This record gives sequence, structure tokens and C-alpha cells, in this order.
Amino acid sequence: MSAERFDRFVERRLYGPDGFYTVGGQAGRRRGDFITSPEVGPLFGEVMLNACLSWWEEMDSPEPFTVVDLGTGPGTLLRSMDLAIQGRADHEGCRSWRLVGVDLAGEYGNGELPESLEQAVIVGNELLDNVPFRVLQIGEAGPGELYVESGREEIRPLLDIDSAAARVLGLPGAGELAPGTRLPLLDEAHELVQGLLDRRPGRICMIDYGESSTSSLAERGGWMRAYREHQRVEDFYGESVPCDITTDVAVDQLPSGAVVERQEDFLRRHGLEALVAEGREYWTAHASRPDVAAIRMRSRIAESDALTDSAGLGSWLVALWRGQ
Ligand SMILES: C[S@@+](CC[C@H](N)C(=O)[O-])C[C@H]1O[C@@H](n2cnc3c(N)ncnc32)[C@H](O)[C@@H]1O
Repeated sequence: MSAERFDRFVERRLYGPDGFYTVGGQAGRRRGDFITSPEVGPLFGEVMLNACLSWWEEMDSPEPFTVVDLGTGPGTLLRSMDLAIQGRADHEGCRSWRLVGVDLAGEYGNGELPESLEQAVIVGNELLDNVPFRVLQIGEAGPGELYVESGREEIRPLLDIDSAAARVLGLPGAGELAPGTRLPLLDEAHELVQGLLDRRPGRICMIDYGESSTSSLAERGGWMRAYREHQRVEDFYGESVPCDITTDVAVDQLPSGAVVERQEDFLRRHGLEALVAEGREYWTAHASRPDVAAIRMRSRIAESDALTDSAGLGSWLVALWRGQ
């Protein structure tokens, strides 16, 4: 096989005919000790429902209204939100919402993006880290770009600096990176979010691991990782078994205008603590004869700890754009 630019290699390995997601990769996969937030338990969906309710109200409570979970994977977030909606007697309005899961991988998702996004909000949890990305490398004589040739890395001089590469190499701090430093080029993720913004949705909320700037990501290193069956894969260039290839997300490469905060703060701002207090109270009242609801309520305490862990999911970044 001839040399492939790295993003094309990632695209083929994730979404090609034998790709990780095409053959049924586990979307709720582990990262070290972590799983994705919706997979931790139903609490994340409860809080996301609160967030969606606040955006819906800020948008003057449009009807119909759609919540799109983009890159929904097995759809766990929407199932939790659906369950939470049934329990919200105080918010009758959300009972008529459409919850739509959209995914590139054929076996996932229950729908497509609505034609008009003006009465919709779009949520993407751990989506952007899975969008194919290019890799640049700073060199003494100018930048180079990563290609894959016969299962091996090859850095080719970037002779013709295209606009996406120029934008990233021109970001604050990028000019001071030492030769040999690599940085991700997230042009496809940028295009994906920009394409959505152009359709003027109510809100776009992207949640992912990463850093606010490309230069801090590049300096820190370790931003590209691969997984297979819950384990890190160090050499993922071999063709034999599909694996998941991901990048940390550098928010300064995404369209401007997002308000960015850590997941921990986002969840607290949208009522996490009240939900946990309610869980604790319910559990205390039912602990002597616990029913299923009591077990679920007690589980909120441990789920909250995992979702706000500042060394894990709590440190994920939440980027929120207002499309209108
Ligand atoms: C890591 S999984 C996250 C699944 C789920 N959101 C969660 O948090 O558990 C990423 C998912 O994004 C999907 N995906 C990647 N690019 C996409 C795109 N452009 N449009 C829709 N889905 C996409 C993949 O197929 C995969 O199922």
C-alpha cells in the first residue's frame, strides 16, 4: 500500500470496511480506569437533561424541539435522558421533545440530523476525539507531516503549507515549539462543528478530553492514544486487528466563540449536587427495605464522584456554542 496521510489512515482504521467502529468497536470503551460519562450511569443523562432544559428555556421553549446526540455510540446518553424525562413531573414540556441519536457507525443511532437545526441542540460526548486528524511535526528546516507507509511512520516535509496547517502553526505558542514536537491538526473536527454552526442550531455542546490550547497539548505530549479491548495499544500501525485511535482535543482549533469549562464545573452548574442530595435522602429513607429506585438513587453518589473526578472525567472540557 502506498503512503497514507495520517488522517486518511485513521479514517480507514476507524470507519473503513474493516474499521474499529465498522466492525462494532465498543463506544463506551475504557480509557485506563475510565469509561465515558454516559456509561458511568444514569446521573450524567439527568444533568444533561437539566442543561438541555435551560437551553430550551433560553431559546423561548420552541416546539417541536430536538436533542441530537451526535456520535451517540450505543445510545446510552439518550436512554438515560429519556428515563429522566419520564421522572420530571415539574417539566411537562420536555415530554414532547425528540431525542435523536446520530452516528457514523451503521449499527448505532436511531435517526439522522433534522433538516433544520434551529429548534435543536446538539450534544457530542467524546465525539471529536474520534474524528480523523492530521499530525504535524516541528522540524529544524520547517514543519513536516506524518504519513504511514507499510505499517511505519514517515515524516514528510510540508512543502506546501495549506490553510488548515497555516492556521494551526500560527496559533499562540506554536512558533516556540521545539523541533521534533508533534501536534494534532483537527481540521475535520473544526469543519464538523463549523458545518453545524452554519445551520444555526440553538446550542452545540461538545465534551471531550483535551486542553484549551494546541501548544500546551503539544508540549505535554501523549495526546494520541489507541485502544483495543480496553487496553492501550502502543504499536497500532499493524493491520491485523482494528483498534480505536484517538486524539486529545485542542479547543483553540475548533471554531471560535465557545464558552469552555471543565466537566466538573458544568455538571455542578446544572444541578449535579441537588440530584445527589435527592439520591442520598431517598436512599436514607428506603435503606431498610431498598427498592430498585433506592439502589439507583444511592448510585448517584458514586457516579457523581466519577463524573467530577478532577484527575479523570471531571477534567474533560465542555465547549458550548450558541448557534443563534
Ligand atoms: C467514543 S464514541 C462515543 C460514544 C458516546 N457518545 C459515549 O459517550 O459513550 C465516538 C462515536 O462517534 C462516532 N462518530 C465519529 N465521527 C462521527 C461523525 N462525524 N458523525 C457521527 N458520528 C461520528 C463514532 O462512530 C463513535 O460511535
